[in-house]
Amino acid sequence: MSAISSTLQVFDQREYRDAMGGFASGITIITTHGAEGPVGFTCQSFYSVSVDPPLISFSVARTSRSLASLREHGKVVVNFLSSEQQHLSGQFARSGTDKWAGVEWYPSESNGAPTLDGGTGWVAGEIEREIEAGDHLIFLVAVSGISTDPERTPLLFYRGKYHELEYQI
Ligand SMILES: Cc1cc2nc3c(=O)[nH]c(=O)nc-3n(C[C@H](O)[C@H](O)[C@H](O)COP(=O)(O)O)c2cc1C
Repeated sequence: MSAISSTLQVFDQREYRDAMGGFASGITIITTHGAEGPVGFTCQSFYSVSVDPPLISFSVARTSRSLASLREHGKVVVNFLSSEQQHLSGQFARSGTDKWAGVEWYPSESNGAPTLDGGTGWVAGEIEREIEAGDHLIFLVAVSGISTDPERTPLLFYRGKYHELEYQI
């Protein structure tokens, strides 16, 4: 334990969300297979956990309709969105709608999970563990395949808005 004391700050959920919005990130669509076809949702909470062995993680809200399919199928692709895919980020964030309308996908050569064209890359893998974390669940995924397209620029999310890099790759 540190000898330096800390003060517990008082803040409400709005202030907490606003503060977290100060952390800029990329955006992904995480996909799997469900009983009635492909399943996916927009996800910002992705990160690489470990290189050896290769492990990734993301958090899923307990209320997410994708949860049952993630647990049942167990295989996922994390699709990294490019600046040309902002519309897909919105489309896959609307629960209970036909998210896949007009979306082209193909089964990943690595694990068969749905893969989207036009992104900056993807990671395929199998869910290894699920950890309870408040109103979310943390998934730990063992990586089985990777792909990257350095020609495309990423879609960024910062303070509740989409952004692009100012320079061209
Ligand atoms: C930019 C952005 C980032 C998001 N990140 C996450 C996330 O990390 N985890 C999560 O569970 N939902 C996240 N969401 C919300 C889900 O995409 C949204 O609730 C979606 O409708 C869930 O779909 P489902 O109920 O079909 O699973 C994010 C939404 C947006 C727009």
